[in-house]
Amino acid sequence: MKRDIIAGNWKMNKTQEETKALIKEIVPLVKDANCEVVLCVPYTNLEVARKAMRGTKMQLGAQNVHWAPKGAFTGEVSAEMLKELKVKYVIIGHSERRQYFGETDMSVNARTKAALEAGLKAIVCVGETLEQREAGETNRVLAEQIEKGLAGLTKKDLKNIVIAYEPVWAIGTGKTATAEDANETIGVMRKGIIRQMFGKYAANSLRIQYGGSMNAKNAKELMAMPEIDGGLIGGASLKAEDFAVIVNYDK
Ligand code: 13P
Repeated sequence: MKRDIIAGNWKMNKTQEETKALIKEIVPLVKDANCEVVLCVPYTNLEVARKAMRGTKMQLGAQNVHWAPKGAFTGEVSAEMLKELKVKYVIIGHSERRQYFGETDMSVNARTKAALEAGLKAIVCVGETLEQREAGETNRVLAEQIEKGLAGLTKKDLKNIVIAYEPVWAIGTGKTATAEDANETIGVMRKGIIRQMFGKYAANSLRIQYGGSMNAKNAKELMAMPEIDGGLIGGASLKAEDFAVIVNYDK
């Protein structure tokens, strides 16, 4: 049985003090969650977040990882460094990384391999831009991102991967894909390229999240969709009460 996974992507928000305070607020609100709950915090907050989450079932996540084990890569952080901080999940290929920092399907692939090799679980992000959507290219774009981003990985690797489908036009804009649309698009991905690459069983077992303006109001409807196995939450994950409503979507 796969377990739904709700992950907060804090992006570049919160100082250490603010991290402690926010997690302290979140902990009691999500203690009875049925889904897996992950907080992906900035690197500088990993240690305080880990301490603040101690004794809870929440998992610690980072927002990026480099592909090399070590070396002259100023500003980057390796998978082993994250492991040492007890990080379990790492977001890879977020559209903001692709848009502002030149991340490509090739670098996503390399980072994903490095994460898995170190024993981390990867949340690999894919999504189409508004332009691509309007040109009717959504499914092609997603298939290409997955084909290249997950190239060379095995069925076994897929167990440690979560895909986050985040339409770029829905991120931080207040515009969500309709639940039906998101469900259909994820279904096409799963039954198409993912099945082709990894087989039916692995494709069905893979958890695919929706992300993009998911909030306390629309989470229930999105999570009720059969193809949607979780959410990657930006803005709403920075408010304890909103995040808790999302995590408790099934209550
Ligand atoms: P918002 O929830 O703020 O739209 O962000 C979504 C996102 O990018 C999560 O990774």
